Amino acid sequence: MYYMWNKNRLVKSFLIPTMEKFMWRKPKIFSDLFLWTGSVAIWIKQEYQCKIIWSDLQLYSVIINKHLIENIKELKFSKLKKHLPKTNDKVDIHLRVCKFLNDLEGTEWYIFENFCPGWKFNRQYFTDNNWKRADSIRLKINEWEKLKLITKKERNYLLACLIESIDKVANTTSVYWAYLKNIKNAANKDMVYSDIWIFTNHNDNKIYQKDANLVAKDKSIKHDVVYLDPPYNSRQYASNYHVLETIAEYDTSVELKWKTGMRNYDDQKSKYSRKWEAYKALEELVTNIDANYIFISYNSDWLLKKEQIKEILSKRWEYKFEPYKYRRYKADKTENRNHNETDLFEHLHCLKITK
Ligand SMILES: C[S@@+](CC[C@H](N)C(=O)[O-])C[C@H]1O[C@@H](n2cnc3c(N)ncnc32)[C@H](O)[C@@H]1O
Repeated sequence: MYYMWNKNRLVKSFLIPTMEKFMWRKPKIFSDLFLWTGSVAIWIKQEYQCKIIWSDLQLYSVIINKHLIENIKELKFSKLKKHLPKTNDKVDIHLRVCKFLNDLEGTEWYIFENFCPGWKFNRQYFTDNNWKRADSIRLKINEWEKLKLITKKERNYLLACLIESIDKVANTTSVYWAYLKNIKNAANKDMVYSDIWIFTNHNDNKIYQKDANLVAKDKSIKHDVVYLDPPYNSRQYASNYHVLETIAEYDTSVELKWKTGMRNYDDQKSKYSRKWEAYKALEELVTNIDANYIFISYNSDWLLKKEQIKEILSKRWEYKFEPYKYRRYKADKTENRNHNETDLFEHLHCLKITK
């Protein structure tokens, strides 16, 4: 998924080598409690084959990662199979389902009405055609679910494919708090509903749509290595990605508001995006969680200063700090972000807990 601020670029070059050097062993359980695209844990899942525990406040992120993390073997679609057009049996069932959904005629429904230029709100997140098709696919997934033709895991897979596919043709600069005035080239292309690769490992992975601080407090959840990558600026992820959340929820009776079609996200506001609450929230999480190692990624120039994180972490434990310099994406310029610098520092705060 194309997300500007995920850790894809840093995982192999910085995060994993630094963690390995600090621990001198592999994780037995890896918990990533601020999941989003899940770039770090996906890599860990493939590399170490260990159990993964994940959480995030956002449903769309949980759905995509539920598929990537919990679906540990290929899906069978045994019930649905009989209802699909007949093809050569050798065609992979995932591709058969994707093709069926890809070929559906568009429908003017909830997403089309709220996010496309063709309806009275005139919002330009997607072209009319793409959204009519997205509505048809979303409705079909609901129908299959109601008729019990698909399992929960199959549903997550189908929704994850939809969210990923539609994100590729969004008329935005990658975040959804605003759409572009003119439809950009990538958004003008037809959406291709495509298969997401399934990463296999054989462990009982778990994922929660839950506040990380609640996961930390829950003593029934066992941790070993915990990776924390909380938001570090005051923009709430819930407002930045509200359109994806609406596709995931598809709560069609909810009225979307303002120029951007924003949903109410009061219950998804993060303390980590509020300067006056972030310190306490992090301190509470780190104090409550029962783990052997904690690693915290934090960007150099945002709500919490590195000295504050050090203050929280170094009170009782063995602590180390590793900076890493990298270049900011050029795309930031189009978002009018007020940064003069082109180089950024990612910080990894490493903590060994002595019990
Ligand atoms: C910086 S992103 C994580 C990026 C991730 N490491 C990646 O590479 O994709 C922060 C994520 O934390 C989530 N979040 C914010 N506050 C949270 C909380 N209190 N509990 C759980 N997740 C939270 C946001 O929804 C967002 O998806």
